[in-house]
Order: sequence, then C-alpha cells, then structure tokens
Amino acid sequence: MSSGKDTFYITTPIYYANDVPHIGHAYTTVAADVLARWRRLNGDRVFFLTGTDEHGQKVAQAAAERGVDPQVHVDEINPRWHEMLSLLRISNDDFIRTTQPRHTQRVQEFMQRLHDQGDLYTATYAGPYCVRCEAYYTVEELLDGQLCPIHRRPVEQLEQENWFFRLSKYADDLLRLYDERADFVRPQARLNEVRSFVAAGLEDISASRSSFDWGVPVPWEPGHVFYVWFDALLNYITAAGFGADDEQFERRWPADVHLIGKDILRFHAVYWPAMLIAAGVEVPHQIFAHGFLLVGGEKMGKSNATGIAPQRLVDHFGRDCYRYYFLRELSFGNDGTFSWESMAERYTADLANDLGNLANRVLNMVGSYCDTRVPEPGGEPGEPEARLAEDLATATSGLQAFDRLDFKSGLSDLWTFVSGVNRYVEARAPWAQRKAGDVDGLNLTLYTCVDALRIIAVLVSPVMPDAAEALWAKLGLDEDLWDQRLPRAASQGLLPPGVATRRGDLLFPRLEDG
Ligand code: MSP
Repeated sequence: MSSGKDTFYITTPIYYANDVPHIGHAYTTVAADVLARWRRLNGDRVFFLTGTDEHGQKVAQAAAERGVDPQVHVDEINPRWHEMLSLLRISNDDFIRTTQPRHTQRVQEFMQRLHDQGDLYTATYAGPYCVRCEAYYTVEELLDGQLCPIHRRPVEQLEQENWFFRLSKYADDLLRLYDERADFVRPQARLNEVRSFVAAGLEDISASRSSFDWGVPVPWEPGHVFYVWFDALLNYITAAGFGADDEQFERRWPADVHLIGKDILRFHAVYWPAMLIAAGVEVPHQIFAHGFLLVGGEKMGKSNATGIAPQRLVDHFGRDCYRYYFLRELSFGNDGTFSWESMAERYTADLANDLGNLANRVLNMVGSYCDTRVPEPGGEPGEPEARLAEDLATATSGLQAFDRLDFKSGLSDLWTFVSGVNRYVEARAPWAQRKAGDVDGLNLTLYTCVDALRIIAVLVSPVMPDAAEALWAKLGLDEDLWDQRLPRAASQGLLPPGVATRRGDLLFPRLEDG
C-alpha cells in the first residue's frame, strides 16, 4: 500500500569527485543543510541528499594525471567529502556515489526504458566540448569563438558516434511546464533564461560516449557508457528509491527543491525534466539556482580557491560563523564576494557582540542577582515587553523567508529580535532595578531575557547548531533542543522558573588577530 508523499526532499548537486571540496561546494551544501534543519524544526520529515559524481571524462582525466585507476581515485577522494560534511556539521540523510550499484543498475534500467520506447537513437555529432563542464557548446556560445563561457579556457573539438536523446520532442512539454509552474525555476530571472533557451529551439543531445569507458555501461551497446550528466541527474531518483523501493520513492518524490549553482541550470531545468517526462516520472517541484562565490571577480574554483579551504576559515572563525556568514552576507540568488575582513566584521558585530555578549550578560546577572536560578516573573508586563514581543513577531515571520531560500533577509529579521533583547536590557536596566530594590521588576526583566535566550537558541539552531546547543546547555533545560518544534517553541513564557542556569564559556570568544 502506498502512503504518498510525506517527506520534504532537498538535494545538493552531486560534486565531481575529481578533486577535494572548496568553499564554492560548501556554499551550496550549507544552504541545503540550513533549509533541511529549518524544515525539521517546523516538524517536517526530511530527506536531505548529497553525494559525489564519480564518472565521466573529467574524473577519468584527474585519475590519469595521478596515474591511478579511476575507481581507486574516487575511493581516495571520498573521505575528503565526508570530512567537509562533518567539519560543517551537515545533517544529510544519505550520501550517494554514482559508482554504487544501487545507482548504476537503476540508471541502466531508466535509460533502457527511454531506448525501448524510441527516445534514443544513434548519430554522429561534432562540436566544441569543455571537459570541465562535461558539455558541448555551440560556437556562438563560446567567448571569442574559442573559450568556454564558464571556465574561460580553450575547448576541444569532439566528434563521436553516440546515442542521442530526443530532447527536441519535449520542447512543448517544457514550455508548458514553465508557463504553468511559475516557481519551477527560481529566481525568476533564471526561469526566463531557461524559457528563452527552449523557445529558441532545442537540439537533441548526446546521451552516450564511446571515446572512454569510465561510466555506466550502455546495456545494449558494448563499448559505450552513458554521458555523465544523464548518469548524474538520475541520482536524485535512484537515491530516493526509484525502481528499488516504490513505497519509499512515493514518500519522497518529487523533490521539493534541487539546490544548484547557476552554471548547471540548463542540465537541471531543461534536460532533467525532459528525461523525467519521457520516462513518465513526475518532475521536481523546484530548482533553485544560486549565484557564484567570486574571488577577484571570478568564480571560485579549483585553481583560485586553494588558499582558502573551508577548514582554514573554520579554524579561525569556527563553523557556526562559517555557516552564518555566507548566508547572512551574500544574497543567495546573486553572485557575491567573500572577504576575510567582512567575515571578521560579522563575527565581531553580530555573533560576539549582539549574541554572545547578550547571553553572557544575562546569565551573569541571573548568577549574581538570582543565585543562578531562573526567577518567577513578577510585576506587570508593560511597554518594553510589548516592543520585545513585536520584535519576536518580526523574527518568526521573517524567518519564513528561508522557505524562499532568502537566508539573508530571514537572518536579518531574526537579528531584529536579538537586537531587541539587547535594547530591552538597556531599557529595563536590571542593575538599577536591583539597586532600587524593585524585586518584581527585576524578576520580570531577567525572566523575559532568559526566556528570550531560549527562543534565540531554537531560532538560530538551523544556522548555528553549535552555538544553539551551547546556549541551550547554559539554560539548564531538561528538554532536548533537537525536539523543539515551531511555532510552539518560539512562544514566550515557556521557560520553567527555578531551573539552574550555567555561565560557562563565551559563545563567541574574541578572534585571534589575523
Ligand atoms: N557534478 C556536477 C553536478 C551534477 S548534479 C546532478 C557539478 N559538480 S561541481 O562539483 O562542478 O559543482 C557542483 C556545484 O558546486 C555546482 O552547483 C556549482 O555551481 C557549485 N559551485 C562550484 N563553485 C562554486 C562557486 N565558486 N560558487 C558557488 N557555487 C559553486 O557541476
């Protein structure tokens, strides 16, 4: 008996296993993780998938350069990807490698289906090819007629007899899809880009290779392997149980969102839905293409990002700041430039001052004025409490922007509350209340502040799981942070009076120089 879709399914692209991860890869992965954690916090069952793309010419070449067998090469690279995931505390539910039999067998079955129904045919094709993109270009698309538009490097002329997929047959279906589902591709500008590309006329695309053998074998044609993009895109369904576990597949598919970089938009928004439509499988709900991280005006990549490995930034700023910074500072749909200075500024202003000092101050006052016990709130709530409640409402409604992948505005609204609590402390001046012997007033102030810290811990938890946990531990609560669910957990007044708080270490200690 099928239960139907009941799972929020989010994916990252699967990363080429030709090399180790850099900040650009980590960017997509962190964003996907924040969305996954955010949906879990809202009570959804989530399936969050990432993995590596291990076939194709690019990976084969990287292995050849090292003089090792491609399988040995990808097996050696694999732990580096897992290290990146644990370094950044990524909560993926599965990690697919395209060399796994659970994937390769299903790829063969899927493609056999397209073949048997006449969607694949043989032809010879010649054209400019960029191995880094693993894609053919037309001469018009090249920069100065000779460079790859993404990598700005010379392309090679490639001629091969291949199996072709009848992409052109699906042009009308695709145009209908774009028209009927306005948020199939986001941001909007990307949808327009894709629509114009399809409307200008689609050519069939090659689906196999015979010039090298590092790929999934074409079952009906010895000596051919599938073109790596067909193999790779199918990971989104093979990992979800397609052809292996129908019930599981129905619970997960269609994916809610495929997060990708804008360089791989055409594959995801044109080829992928066409493949699915051809096979009679539902298309994903949404494809969201984010911008590039730039270094010196160029897409950060293998050649120019080696000096700033994720590990180096995490060593200096901590992983929470890493996770926070890229989403708070850059606007996700657009290109953005990373800088060490702006990261240091965010750390000091937003994390160490606004959040870390606030927690420290409040817990110190509970320590010295209330014998480290959360007081029973006394007195009548007034104007400052009302203002704080408004700031909280701004934060909780603003955070819904995460569902639109607008992390920047979600975090900015969340900080309205963090700053609001700071303003509240200044307005109520608990040190003065204490001096004046206003016990009720003091208790109300401190209760409100510690309860606000509880809410902050919950609300920052998708973005900064370490700080959220550390803050939660200071509050001495019995409940588990990871069992908290919105909207309830963000209601004021849930903190039980009487619990013993702990001061502990600073959440965000001062940065070492440099
Ligand atoms: N293997 C393919 C994806 C197959 S998905 C079915 C691939 N891999 S990749 O490793 O080259 O890139 C993976 C993702 O990382 C892409 O979404 C790409 O946009 C992203 N990024 C790589 N460098 C980046 C930046 N400098 N900035 C932002 N994202 C970047 O393509």
